[in-house]
Amino acid sequence: MKSKIALITGITGQDGAYLAEFLLSKNYIVHGIKRRSSSFNTERIDHLFQERSEDSTFILHYGDMSDGMNITRLIRDVNPNEIYNLAAMSHVRVSFDTPEYTANIDAIGTLRILEAVRLLGMEKKVKVYQASTSELFGKVQETPQSETTPFYPRSPYGVAKMYAYWITKNYREAYGIFASNGILFNHESPMRGETFVTRKITRAVTRISVGLQNQLLIGNLNAKRDWGHAKDYVKSMWMMLQHDKADDFVIASGQNFSVRDFIIKSFKLVGIDVDFQGTGINETGVITKIKNQTDGLKVGQTLVKIDPVYFRPSEVDTLLGNSNKARTKLKWIPEYDFDSLIKEMVQSDLTLANKEKIIKEL
Ligand code: NAP
Ligand code: GDD
Repeated sequence: MKSKIALITGITGQDGAYLAEFLLSKNYIVHGIKRRSSSFNTERIDHLFQERSEDSTFILHYGDMSDGMNITRLIRDVNPNEIYNLAAMSHVRVSFDTPEYTANIDAIGTLRILEAVRLLGMEKKVKVYQASTSELFGKVQETPQSETTPFYPRSPYGVAKMYAYWITKNYREAYGIFASNGILFNHESPMRGETFVTRKITRAVTRISVGLQNQLLIGNLNAKRDWGHAKDYVKSMWMMLQHDKADDFVIASGQNFSVRDFIIKSFKLVGIDVDFQGTGINETGVITKIKNQTDGLKVGQTLVKIDPVYFRPSEVDTLLGNSNKARTKLKWIPEYDFDSLIKEMVQSDLTLANKEKIIKEL
């Protein structure tokens, strides 16, 4: 049977890497769009490239979501069966500093893809996955959030993604393009970018445990998120495009935890009990017990402090998803839960911290 061809934007990101690996395991020919960068940005996919360069099943192209001609040419030349639009300026806090850029990439970038499909006359040939987000729910109007919950985005990122959601739906209704929105709640992994809160925590906790770092400076401890594993979530993207009709699906674990919970659990996994004391910006995380005495740490020591620099001008306080539609219609079942997700992230970052320590001591 002839292999299907997939084109992934954002292939160098967390989801792009997991999705590429998943599609290659399903015998797809995978094309990815990467940005030109002054330093290497393919760390997450280098292993795939090395394994597949001989048989030409994994091919990278230069491109940028701001460049409509480049996107149109690539879609024409690659002639994909499926397009996964994962590229985005994906950091909510940063979107307050770069609102126009965020709109150009996350909102108009999506339009550029859909319009290319239309102009190339590929409406009936290609299926499009749009990386929508639980940030659309923002200041939540009901709990838990499902496909019918009204949107109330709280950041330039959320607002840009709202345009992308609706233009995807509009091109589906107007031109009959098979275009689906995956409304994915937060998903993490050892490949998560280091400035998102989960990875920032697991990096700091493991580095503190081996004596490479003194403290974790953090923003809003009370924020609650519905966290899942990226590996489970990219599978749902593929499932959406294999479904008999294009539609919109919420993907979530159905459980939420606070940033504070995430920190406590992560420290516990490296043998350090931390308790939170005080209130507001004076709240601190203090050691109450240490399992194995490690590098100069002692009971009573402050390991976590608030730094208001990480607060957002408008915050999404709490998110909790209801993914019953995906679980019923797509038969999507996640393999990871909150505990196994944190455990994998802490173990992976502990290995990294120990390597860093050896290099430092050389
Ligand atoms: P990520 O790790 O930040 O990856 C984003 C990708 O987009 C990277 O490959 C990045 O390239 C690329 N990109 C950024 N600006 C670009 C531009 N101007 N032109 C071309 N490529 C560009 O994000 P992720 O966590 O994998 O998320 C994937 C998608 O899902 C994003 O659209 C995100 O908004 C959405 N989403 C994520 C989550 C989540 O919890 N992870 C939840 C819901 C929705 P560089 O590597 O060069 O920076
Ligand atoms: N990044 C960060 N850094 N967040 C912090 C910090 C910190 O030091 N301290 C507290 N937080 C809080 C944020 O204020 C937010 O409420 C929560 O932790 C999660 O922040 P992030 O991990 O940055 O993720 P996000 O929820 O804002 O956005 C992610 O998930 C969205 C899906 O809901 C991103 O992946 C988005 O691209 C994605 O759409």
